[in-house]
Amino acid sequence: MRTYLVTGGAGFIGSNYIHYMFKKYDNDIRIINVDVLTYAGNLENLKDIEDRDNYTFVKADICDKEAISKIFSENDIDRVVHFAAESHVDRSIRNPEVFVNTNVLGTAVMLNCAKAAWENEDGTFKEDKKFLHVSTDEVYGSLPDDDTAFFYETSPIDPHSPYSASKASSDMLVKAYIDTYHFPANITNCSNNYGPYQFPEKLIPLIINNALQGKKLPVYGDGKNVRDWLYVEDHAKAIDMVQEQGKLGERYNIGGHNEKQNIEIIEIILDTLQEMLPEGDPRKELVSRDLITYVEDRKGHDRRYAIAPDKIKEEIGWYPETMFKDGIKLTIKWFFENEDWMKNVTSGDYQKYYAEMYK
Ligand code: NAD
Ligand code: DAU
Repeated sequence: MRTYLVTGGAGFIGSNYIHYMFKKYDNDIRIINVDVLTYAGNLENLKDIEDRDNYTFVKADICDKEAISKIFSENDIDRVVHFAAESHVDRSIRNPEVFVNTNVLGTAVMLNCAKAAWENEDGTFKEDKKFLHVSTDEVYGSLPDDDTAFFYETSPIDPHSPYSASKASSDMLVKAYIDTYHFPANITNCSNNYGPYQFPEKLIPLIINNALQGKKLPVYGDGKNVRDWLYVEDHAKAIDMVQEQGKLGERYNIGGHNEKQNIEIIEIILDTLQEMLPEGDPRKELVSRDLITYVEDRKGHDRRYAIAPDKIKEEIGWYPETMFKDGIKLTIKWFFENEDWMKNVTSGDYQKYYAEMYK
């Protein structure tokens, strides 16, 4: 039975990945989830699997060498899937330091502990041990408003925000371990995810939550920045396929083939909410295009991201399966069915963050 060490498994993508893996492998794998539970980490995301005998949660900081090496010494870890990070660009613009700490130093700790546990005396590595570093397309910087340009694995690394600079640094560290020690790792660079359990500081859940309450929908700049949206379950599947079928040492881009301007996304959400809300539901009257409010642009706002997922398709056979029109319905349905989840995550600190960010 393979044992996985998943970092950041209580966050958005990490919790979706854990659900996906138990659905796929059931009792044939064991997962240890290490998460320090920042504002973005939420054990409610894992409520339905927390009692499984083949699941363990460890509350620990990835920057804490002792805690991480203890997990490796007490368990024969076969796979590391490293999600834990500070993930929100706006927060990185306000407070970059914590991004360097978690994303760069935390990744260094993860690499060192895995290397120490997996390395043989002669510098080779034990059989069938693999580390997957989950990264972002933002490390490639920004593309012009020209839909013929794409990010490839060979595109130059050119991050702009403190968040993407910290992710690019962590990618470089993983690459250094691959190049120097032949450390058994892969890097994946993924586009914007959406789906269940996404924290409402990110565009899609924020718009759904605000629209249902008749609150303003803040659009940065001219609203024409483009992102390439990927349904989170497709991402989880890609990570598993890269780890099992990818060539060790390689980087793979993961994208949705689904480029849309932010304003288009907002309009689709409003139309889909109208379509899905039943007649007589009081929220139907609140959801309106009049809520759209153009606000000051994000500093250094990247114009366009677009992934060419050719390599992962050709080498591994993965492609994005969920069309945006279906994925957004699944996402909205999940938010309808999990109103308490939204209420819980938007109480307390979220209110303070929102008031400060959108004042
Ligand atoms: P998230 O913010 O929802 O979750 C991050 C998780 O990491 C949280 O559970 C948090 O508690 C945990 N964490 C943070 N600091 C930690 C620390 N020091 N020690 C242990 N745990 C810690 O993030 P997400 O959106 O799920 O993103 C997961 C990963 O995927 C990140 O590495 C991010 O850079 C990358 N990524 C995200 C997207 C996206 O669209 N969300 C796209 C591409 C790549
Ligand atoms: O591309 C992958 C990246 O996608 C990940 O690495 C990041 O972790 C993830 O947060 C995401 O980054 P973005 O900055 O693209 O996502 P966000 O949801 O914050 O913003 C999406 C777009 O919407 C962006 O152009 C900014 C805009 N926006 C965002 C918010 C929160 C608005 O116009 N208004 C808003 O209120």
